Amino acid sequence: MILEPQAQPGLIRNSLASADKPWTAAQDAILSDEALAEARRVIGSWQGYAPTPLVALPGLAARAGIAALHLKDEGGRFGIGSFKALGGAYAVAQVLARAASARAGRHISAEEVATGAVPDLVRAETVTCATDGNHGRSVAWGAQRFGCRAVIFIHQTVSQGRADAIAAFGAEVRRTPGTYDDSVRIAAETAQAEGWHVVSDTSWGGYTDVPRHVMQGYEIMATEAFESLPQPPTHIFLQTGVGGMAAAVAALAKRRWGAARPVIVLADPVGAACWAESYAAGAPTPAKGEVETMQAGLACGEVSLLAWEILRDHGDWVVTVPDEAIPGAMRLLARSAGGDPAVVAGESAVAGLVACLSADGAMRGALGLGPASRVLVFSTEGDTDPALYRRILDS
Ligand SMILES: Cc1ncc(COP(=O)(O)O)c(C=O)c1O
Repeated sequence: MILEPQAQPGLIRNSLASADKPWTAAQDAILSDEALAEARRVIGSWQGYAPTPLVALPGLAARAGIAALHLKDEGGRFGIGSFKALGGAYAVAQVLARAASARAGRHISAEEVATGAVPDLVRAETVTCATDGNHGRSVAWGAQRFGCRAVIFIHQTVSQGRADAIAAFGAEVRRTPGTYDDSVRIAAETAQAEGWHVVSDTSWGGYTDVPRHVMQGYEIMATEAFESLPQPPTHIFLQTGVGGMAAAVAALAKRRWGAARPVIVLADPVGAACWAESYAAGAPTPAKGEVETMQAGLACGEVSLLAWEILRDHGDWVVTVPDEAIPGAMRLLARSAGGDPAVVAGESAVAGLVACLSADGAMRGALGLGPASRVLVFSTEGDTDPALYRRILDS
């Protein structure tokens, strides 16, 4: 046990999942090898694309009593600071391709949009979304890159630093009352009234096409990690907001390794535990109470329906992670614990790591974690709000 006792997480099993559940046609319509190949072709052609580092942490692995711990460090992704650069911006390219095709009366590909081949066909379009920071930054960045307008909705507790970072990409930023989930609804209503394109990272009944592209972009992070690992992982720990990122990683793990896939463990903030509620109930179920957590990117009260379609079958456990554990884990990574390389990880980036490091005897037994385990985690953001990062580290 590396973390303080008051920072101990809770564990819930998903009784609907098992390693031998098949990969279904409905799941393949969301994420597939073909869709991943297209995302790789499009995103791989963007200036500045490079795989992010996969960092071995042997010192932490030894302290955690496991054979290996690898961390995929997304802090440098496209200079945007998080894995979200892969999803929102890719979905913007796909949305603009469809709009441009309708305008031109011929097929226009996302690659043409992304290479700036059809500026006159996209200039009049507006994309919009609600965000707790990182997704909106990706959408704003994509809009600026591909030459259309962006209006980004943020809720009350999104930090000013994050709002400024979005505006720096030329987007109009609008602050809304209420929570993240309220801002999702307001963005959708405004888009409907104005004729804008909603580029959401979450999905709901009747709205699945765009978030499918977002998740297809995220799969690039997973494929880079799997291709760099010396051996397949036995366990993957994934922090969850609406679950799009975890679903993308779990989907690729299932397609790649089939019934021999690793154990998939989700990590919800205690204050935004929609995956814990959903796994406990066996159906999508909102988080209890006010959604409140310092893990801003994970402050989501409802699971994404597309993510549920995948994680219902291929996500095994969820751990609820208290906010109290987050600063310690950020410091552990920042200060080169046990001689490992230092990693700059934001407050929404470490819940998966916390879930792994804090597993006590009973949890280790349940998860099958032991001296032979090879664990993969994703540090999904760097210091996306540098002032806040510093404050937390010094707290
Ligand atoms: C840094 C970071 N990690 C993880 C997530 C969770 O992703 P998802 O909402 O797809 O579960 C987010 C979402 O905003 C995020 O910003």
